[in-house]
Amino acid sequence: MCYGKCARCLGITLVPLALLCIIANTLLFFPNGQTGFNTPERLAESVWCFSGILGSGVLMIFPVLVFLGMENNDCCGCCGNESCGKRFANFSSVIFAGIGVAGAAYCFIVSAVGLNLGPKCTTNSNINYTYIFTDGDYLANHSMWNECKDPPNIVTWHVTLFSLLLVMSGVQIVLCAFQVVNGLIGFICGDCCSCCGSA
Ligand SMILES: *[C@@H]1O[C@H](CO)[C@@H](O)[C@H](O)[C@H]1NC(C)=O
Repeated sequence: MCYGKCARCLGITLVPLALLCIIANTLLFFPNGQTGFNTPERLAESVWCFSGILGSGVLMIFPVLVFLGMENNDCCGCCGNESCGKRFANFSSVIFAGIGVAGAAYCFIVSAVGLNLGPKCTTNSNINYTYIFTDGDYLANHSMWNECKDPPNIVTWHVTLFSLLLVMSGVQIVLCAFQVVNGLIGFICGDCCSCCGSA
């Protein structure tokens, strides 16, 4: 088994996940597809953490580039030493996989907090945009969702997008954590696969 190949597959899988996280976080700024609600007073703080855009999105560029480059790197060698180059590539992939875990974990935590707090909205008795739910109680009780009047459909919008972010960042954590282990194995037994030509 060549560990570089494996990292490449992980890198390719991370790309659509990162793009979807960026899209999901961006949509959170436009409840019901409408503009005009994207001010800090009207949207939940968790939307303004940019966790899907930065943590699970832009930050993923680094592990993705390193993972995608591994198949090439791991045979080039450093100082003319093939095995040393392979080990170095594996070692750097561990570092960048760690960065990926951290970014995805940031998105995962913010999404969980966002789901727990719920969206900000107005009600029949309160025209200010505030959190009206406590401790995620609304998640199990659909009839509470109608208490939110404005932005329209905000609870569905909020729950759907943060659930997607939660799942996708969870997958990113697993993929990057897998490469942490994978890269460490490759680093420790760098000579396990005779890579050049046969990869
Ligand atoms: C669901 O919420 C409604 C409205 O707040 C409340 O009247 C009802 O008791 C709740 N149901 C449950 C099972 O908690």
